[in-house]
Amino acid sequence: MIIFAFLMDGLEEPVGKFKYFDINPRNRSAEFEYTINPKWRNQGMGTKMLRTAINYLLATTKLNKLYCQTAAFNIASVKLLDKLGFHRDGILREHHELDGKLWDDYIYSILRNKWKTS
Ligand SMILES: CC(C)(COP(=O)(O)OP(=O)(O)OC[C@H]1O[C@@H](n2cnc3c(N)ncnc32)[C@H](O)[C@@H]1OP(=O)(O)O)[C@@H](O)C(=O)NCCC(=O)NCCS
Repeated sequence: MIIFAFLMDGLEEPVGKFKYFDINPRNRSAEFEYTINPKWRNQGMGTKMLRTAINYLLATTKLNKLYCQTAAFNIASVKLLDKLGFHRDGILREHHELDGKLWDDYIYSILRNKWKTS
């Protein structure tokens, strides 16, 4: 697993973390996860971090596909992925337990030739 910490001038703790793992050299894919420090959520940092991390990965590796799993109830995450042009590849039905309730999980991906830099 490779972890990027996102730092901002003047702050001692990272604003967020982006991790990627399960690198498959055959189909050139990798899975990723991301989190923004709760203090900095809903201020555009997640969008900025994901854009930066994916631009960097596509510029510095030969990866063709980046994918992630997110819960259907995770509105901020779903909005973020939709906004960045990710494709919802599939639904893992009733895959995610939270407080006794079973929620769907979504698999999202982006392909190199669909990613819009900037
Ligand atoms: C998901 C996460 C990374 C989003 O980061 P963020 O910095 O809050 O995201 P942004 O501020 O860039 O917002 C992204 C979109 O979500 C919306 N949003 C953010 N927080 C929201 C909330 N609490 N409720 C509803 N919408 C929200 C924003 O309005 C924005 O949508 P818009 O561009 O259409 O206005 C952050 O909530 C987080 O770290 N969650 C915990 C970890 C996690 O769930 N990771 C994802 C699965 S791996």
